[in-house]
Amino acid sequence: MEGPTNGHRTFFVSGSTDGLGLRCCNQLAESAPAVTDASKKRVIAIHGRNPEKIAKTKADIEKQNEANAANFEIISFQGDLSDMNSVKKLADDVMAHFNEANPLDVFMNNAGIWTSKDGGLQKSACGKFEQTFMANVIAVHILLKKMLTGPPATVPKKIVVTSSGGHKMHKEPIDVDNFNFEKGEHSPSKAYSQSKLLVIMLEVAYFEKGMIPATTTMLSFCPGWIGTNMGGAKGRDINEANETFTFATSDKYDNAGGRPIYYKQYDADAEVNPQTLDKEACLRVYDHLEQVCKE
Ligand SMILES: NC(=O)c1ccc[n+]([C@@H]2O[C@H](COP(=O)([O-])OP(=O)(O)OC[C@H]3O[C@@H](n4cnc5c(N)ncnc54)[C@H](OP(=O)(O)O)[C@@H]3O)[C@@H](O)[C@H]2O)c1
Repeated sequence: MEGPTNGHRTFFVSGSTDGLGLRCCNQLAESAPAVTDASKKRVIAIHGRNPEKIAKTKADIEKQNEANAANFEIISFQGDLSDMNSVKKLADDVMAHFNEANPLDVFMNNAGIWTSKDGGLQKSACGKFEQTFMANVIAVHILLKKMLTGPPATVPKKIVVTSSGGHKMHKEPIDVDNFNFEKGEHSPSKAYSQSKLLVIMLEVAYFEKGMIPATTTMLSFCPGWIGTNMGGAKGRDINEANETFTFATSDKYDNAGGRPIYYKQYDADAEVNPQTLDKEACLRVYDHLEQVCKE
């Protein structure tokens, strides 16, 4: 069911109460290798925004994978990614739980949102940011910065950000003064494609700033069009969507601190927005996020 995991034992999957994150966690539970020592069980950290849904998800994964129950443990974290304070607390909670003696091996930044067209431009909890920019970009930076700047032994060995082929739709040069659509012309699809471009550029910026240790692989990918709440009924059957799980578990994509690669499903040569090749633009994204996170 999976390739070698390089001994990775602990996994955190954001946005795992539904869709691709939930499927990935079920696959992690089903495939957890047999252990005789309970301290060696695979640890699967699920995350969501709603405490009741988190509790139900934990119970559902445990029930669905009862046959392999001895080999995995589900733990959970709560945090609303559209709320800066909640994300900062989530980052603190995750890094307080995982430590040098019990490091987080794999961080899957799977959560992502596409706001509804009906509500017009939707804001983050603090009212300062467009909600997609907050949840899909600022939240990612808060979580990744916390992980990358912790004690070296606690930096995850693999960091995967789910992007989207939609990132290529953002053709105009990125404009830090318009990340929240301050200059107008907002639409949910524009906000989404911009956000998915910015997270790839952010990964490149971490690389350019020398923040990715040689023991860490960082990458992004697009899972393709999948029939989830976000993807809708016409997407590919979720039971055939193995990308999130494969990128979490296979060592095939390891690149030892190299420049983060964008994959379209499993295709490393997938067309990528040329703006991701512009080092200065990527660093501008990083600097801007640093500034807004301090405000
Ligand atoms: N589906 C596709 O066709 C497709 C294509 C390309 C890329 N992607 C990307 O794949 C990833 C997963 O998408 P999906 O299709 O599985 O989406 P989904 O079915 O809508 O699931 C999204 C997950 O994120 C959680 N979430 C949403 N808003 C949140 C918030 N404010 N704070 C914390 N958690 C929140 C959801 O929690 P609740 O359970 O509470 O809603 C759910 O667990 C996303 O990054 C998406 O952009 C998807």
